[in-house]
Amino acid sequence: MELPYHEDVSPGTGGLPPRAWCAGSDAASLSLNGSWRFRLSPGACGPDESFAADGFDAAAWDEVVVPGHWVLQGHGAPHYTNQQYPFPVDPPRVPTENPTGDHLRCFDLPADWPADGTAVLRFDGVESCARVWLNGTPLGDFKGSRLPHEFAVGHLLRPVDNVVAVRVHQWSSGSYLEDQDQWWLPGIFRDVTLLHRPAGAAGDFFTHASYDHEEGTGTLRVDCDVPGRVTVPELGVDVATGEGVTVPVEPWTAERPRLYDAVLSTPGERIALRVGFRTVALTGGLITVNGRPLLFRGVNRHEFHPDHGRALDLATMRADVMLMKQHNINAVRTAHYPPHPAFLDLCDELGLWVIDECDLETHGFMALGRGGNPVDDDRWTPALLDRAARTVERDKNHPSVIVWSLGNECGTGRGLRAMAAWIRERDPDRLLHYEGDPSCQDTDMYSRMYADHAEVERIGRGEDGGPEERRRLPFVLCEYAHAMGNGPGGLREYQDLFERYDRLQGGFVWEWIDHGLRHPEFGYAYGGDFGERPHDGNFVCDGLCFPDRTPSPGLLDYMQVIQPVRFTYDPVSGTVSVTNLYDFADLSELAFEWTYLMDGPDRAVSGPLDVPPELGPGESVELKLPEPPPAARGAETRLHVSAMICEETNWTALDHVVARADFAVTPRPPVPVATGARPRPCGYDLALGPGRFDVRTGELRAIGDVTLRAAPRLDVWRATTDNDDGAPWQPDTRYGPLWRDLGLDRMQHRLDDVESGDGALTVRTRVAPAARDLALRAVHRWTSDGEALRLTVSVTPEGDWQVPLPRLGIRLGLPAALGYAHWFGGGPGEAYPDTGSASCVSRWHRDVGGMQTPYVRPQENGARADVRWAELRTRSDGEGVRIVGDPAFWFTARPWSTEQLDAAAHRTDLVPGDTVWVHLDHGQRGIGTQSCGPGVLPQHELRVAPAEFAFTFTTVARER
Ligand code: GAL
Repeated sequence: MELPYHEDVSPGTGGLPPRAWCAGSDAASLSLNGSWRFRLSPGACGPDESFAADGFDAAAWDEVVVPGHWVLQGHGAPHYTNQQYPFPVDPPRVPTENPTGDHLRCFDLPADWPADGTAVLRFDGVESCARVWLNGTPLGDFKGSRLPHEFAVGHLLRPVDNVVAVRVHQWSSGSYLEDQDQWWLPGIFRDVTLLHRPAGAAGDFFTHASYDHEEGTGTLRVDCDVPGRVTVPELGVDVATGEGVTVPVEPWTAERPRLYDAVLSTPGERIALRVGFRTVALTGGLITVNGRPLLFRGVNRHEFHPDHGRALDLATMRADVMLMKQHNINAVRTAHYPPHPAFLDLCDELGLWVIDECDLETHGFMALGRGGNPVDDDRWTPALLDRAARTVERDKNHPSVIVWSLGNECGTGRGLRAMAAWIRERDPDRLLHYEGDPSCQDTDMYSRMYADHAEVERIGRGEDGGPEERRRLPFVLCEYAHAMGNGPGGLREYQDLFERYDRLQGGFVWEWIDHGLRHPEFGYAYGGDFGERPHDGNFVCDGLCFPDRTPSPGLLDYMQVIQPVRFTYDPVSGTVSVTNLYDFADLSELAFEWTYLMDGPDRAVSGPLDVPPELGPGESVELKLPEPPPAARGAETRLHVSAMICEETNWTALDHVVARADFAVTPRPPVPVATGARPRPCGYDLALGPGRFDVRTGELRAIGDVTLRAAPRLDVWRATTDNDDGAPWQPDTRYGPLWRDLGLDRMQHRLDDVESGDGALTVRTRVAPAARDLALRAVHRWTSDGEALRLTVSVTPEGDWQVPLPRLGIRLGLPAALGYAHWFGGGPGEAYPDTGSASCVSRWHRDVGGMQTPYVRPQENGARADVRWAELRTRSDGEGVRIVGDPAFWFTARPWSTEQLDAAAHRTDLVPGDTVWVHLDHGQRGIGTQSCGPGVLPQHELRVAPAEFAFTFTTVARER
């Protein structure tokens, strides 16, 4: 049976061969972006093609904006799946129900459109298959959604009333090659442009610009299919195309992205080029640029916008690059397809290393196990080679692109080998990446995803075994630290390994941004929210940024972990040691500062730290600090050191802090123990200092004038995080489900005894889940000195606990009016045992609402670490309650309860109630990354063990 073009395995017909992306031509061009006429049909074969005929009247049709996805413009709905194809797997056939969007755009040529030469119609991205006509004449069809496609159209153009007709099918044979974990979003989602091609214009050109780090020279050669000249005025270069020239230059690196303006002139066209000189190589088993090994501090970036899907505007692309740079990220893997070409221009300009990945993933075949995978089927090889060529040809002139990646999660096969061979032949000056082949026969680096710390360490030590060729290769984690929901945990420990072992050349966090689509009811929608089936839920929200690009705590954590300067402090000698962790740059772009803080920022002294600007990569210096001011009685002195930008850059403002550290100069003074007062009857209550208790239950009812809405109780439950819940396929222990199965989310509190003695009120409880013989016995001992009320909790486990606890502490409910928090401890943002490196000990304050981290799927969040004391007040200077921890504690305050948080599926399910829920935790379990990667490291588990901790409560008056 002959298949229609959209089901045929061919990459397309009628198009022009791929060539270099070119933003700087002086030839005329006409953007065809904007409003297009649009008609949606339910099937690929149903609608007739008369719409493409010259003179068709589409006045009755709807309109859509191009670039855009019709499913985000009121026609149909988005569909999210991870690995599973959303249609029956029977390659290359696709369903009959195949949403098909017919698009029409009329245009006149501008009055000054040159009469000579020819023209090209270019599509930068159409998902997933298109057939194109101009003025009624069929031009051809294509697949390869995130790749450019061009047609020669000069002979068809007329001065006015031109009509481009494009039929787009949501599903095609190409969909089998595009099984990336993301929303399926059909449409013409990148630019459409008409390009004038003057006689004698350049067709394709290839800039080769290498750097000899020993000589300090660059060698430039621009190959072009139409002979011409290349000039670089700043370097005095003026050579013919195809001819090499060597001159002294400053090299390009992601840290110092030095570009030289150049011009390629052919008889018909002048093209502005930006040349970056750099040499990428595999040297001594390491990835080197300009002779030096580099460390990827990377992220995987999908193109995503909460309103526009993968149709990104320039401002959003720039925002991504700037945000990455501002958070110390130095590399991007363009997961899992070439990005909009303008993004790579920005990487050249602002400086990011890029692994440019081909638009290819066939993940859905791997779970099926019945073969048929297109990457190992010769019939598909032309389509695969077409994708490789369109990637490499388009992006080959970017200095930022240092590695080509064959694609993602396709398994192995002859087609991939053919792609690798073609790329090596075409561009021997870059390295090759592919993660899916454990033999590494076609790649220049051993790449893995989600390997745990122990395995990464074995690889670092070269103890990983495997084929001989692989053991000679450097190692990268092309994906790690799955940033889904709260987390990722364990970043610090990965970075320590990367910095310890040369072979480990860093990694790319999965992933940059949550793909939550803005939704009137849910706030941000994820899989299933459009009624689609099958779907993979909120697995699509696993980024370091929230959908609106607000940095999540995970991004701030990552920024701190990968900061380019390391500080260590020796309180005995009063010295700070500063190490330059850049791979190439000295420290001349940074200024350094020390600050001593006595009990927070209100009493602080600071001064400059004289770090030599010429300190090179890997070098350290030790500097003596001034003596800290004498500590006031009961006060705690901390040292903060920071490095900030002191020279204008194109990615951040002056004074932006790139690196910082927080150290204890003096230890925390001991907390006075409040004893001496006696419990005494007071009406139906019992009074002890400022506390009032229920005589029968021993429950605290009020602290001074503040009536509690819920008495303090032992608490172990947290609204499980995506990482607690773990991915269904994780073979390891996944504690979220185990905890629920045990009943930790519905612990019963049995009162055993209330004892009012001379100097204390003692309440004994047994806290345990139904149907189990596990328990925590808790003794609450209340004492007071008349002013302060102290609670000491002693916990003794009972039974055979096989699981760690989510948290261990107490929770109480205060009136919602006490909705403003002050605290002295870690902040300003959240932290958990294995996250939150950005948390810094100081005095912080904000309203309780603002202490919530708005994960797209609500879950445990918002704990502040190392808190010495916290206050909840009616407003910043209002009256309230003060809680001092002994020892320091994890502080969480919420306008809703854990139960509400646990039950919520979207942000909009959470509505503040009449209670501020306060958690004072002695312990929290780490976060880990089990939503796709390894779980919590042993040192960050919260094991069940006897524990004792205390809190002192007082009232605080309104400030006058
Ligand atoms: C990887 C895959 C990514 C993404 C991630 C989990 O296996 O390459 O595309 O699915 O897991 O979010």
